Amino acid sequence: MSPFQHHNVPPHAAVVGLQWGDEGKGKIVDLLTSRFDCIVRYNGGANAGHTVQVGSDRYALHLIPSGILSPGKVNIVGNGVVVDPEKLLDEVEGLRKRGVAIGDNLRISDRAHVVMPYHKEQDAALEELLEKKSGKTGAGQIGTTRRGIGPAYSDKVRRSTALRMGDLLDHALLLRKLETICGLRMAELEALGASVTPLVPRELADRFAAAGERLRPHITDTVYLVHDAMKDGRTVLFEGANACLLDIDHGTFPYVTSSNCSTLGIPAGSGVPGRMIGKVYGIMKAYSTRVGGGPFVTELLDETGERIRKRGREYGTTTGRPRRCGWLDLVAVKYSAMVCGADAIACTLLDVLSGFDELKICVGYRRADGTITDRFIPDAERMHGFTPVYETFAGWERELTTCTDREDLPREAQAYLGFVEQFVGIPVELVSVGPERTQTFESNERFAVAR
Ligand code: IMP
Repeated sequence: MSPFQHHNVPPHAAVVGLQWGDEGKGKIVDLLTSRFDCIVRYNGGANAGHTVQVGSDRYALHLIPSGILSPGKVNIVGNGVVVDPEKLLDEVEGLRKRGVAIGDNLRISDRAHVVMPYHKEQDAALEELLEKKSGKTGAGQIGTTRRGIGPAYSDKVRRSTALRMGDLLDHALLLRKLETICGLRMAELEALGASVTPLVPRELADRFAAAGERLRPHITDTVYLVHDAMKDGRTVLFEGANACLLDIDHGTFPYVTSSNCSTLGIPAGSGVPGRMIGKVYGIMKAYSTRVGGGPFVTELLDETGERIRKRGREYGTTTGRPRRCGWLDLVAVKYSAMVCGADAIACTLLDVLSGFDELKICVGYRRADGTITDRFIPDAERMHGFTPVYETFAGWERELTTCTDREDLPREAQAYLGFVEQFVGIPVELVSVGPERTQTFESNERFAVAR
């Protein structure tokens, strides 16, 4: 099936998470990759973790687009990404050892900003300071992945202390910049109360220029690269990392990451205007999870939550942390679909919901004063004290892992997805019922809504 219904729609698409990340985007991107020539990442860094299962092989990717596992595709790390060069090299080596060819199929923007070791120290030091100040674990902190993402983006915005991938290719320039940065950075780390190992500009310049040399064949101006590819008739899939509700502007601030993870990040993070994107797939897990702090209205702190965690293997790909689990929050999903301009939903991990007597879906929030709203509020303070308004659905017993089309699903599962379509107002076009490439099917028709 062509993903584009109208011939005048641009043949480029985007995949974006509609919740707080870990929706299984990697798997959907991997699946859609066969229909596109180039895969572009436009935001985030090594905080993201995509797990892709190919046969019995499980690949955990952090920086490299999951299209790398499909031969013949060009994988682009756009200017909006923050790159930890050593982590990227580890990832490249790890993939090569497993027989994945990496050469011209991996291109990295010379304007992507660099995550340096001091960014990771700053990230951890700030989190620890906030924890100490609040006197309570988890309060005050963001609960970051400590991959240096926030501090690297802060440097990008501050400009004078930033390093871009292109800078790694010029040792003298890199050294000059680090001479300014190191002194300042040590003072900042000391102010955060971190135990500071001296930052030596020459050592860092040597180390990161060496990483730059190894990455040189991949570093290029990716904006022209993507535009040239599109002019040549090649098609592009934009792969969002993290997810819409972690978007710095549109997520549950301040419990968000530091980039525009929604599709709104695509133009700035890749240099491609939004109108070039003909179709947006919003990825939605059949329930909700989040890691780190922040509002989570449907969170289940009971046995049901634990059961979802166990069945869904909800432990972080990047940090191994147990994820917070809860019922599907459609107020949040509908909001994300609106912000991202989602045309269709890919529902993942539906199989996890087998075996529950009943299932709940959140359709509104009850405020502390008892009033109800069906609007999402992307501000942690203002969501404080919200409780969910649920619709209850009959569960199903049967495992779904062998289902290969819509009609194969138990009637109750069809009704569950039918409600999602009706509430959000867009079709569920892809359904995933297990980790394998083969455990996903497309659905061209709408699901029946009757319960
Ligand atoms: P940071 O991106 O490491 O600064 O973390 C900020 C918040 O975003 C934390 O709550 C993280 O757990 C969360 N986060 C960042 N990336 C992801 C992701 O890919 N999946 C889920 N949560 C993420």
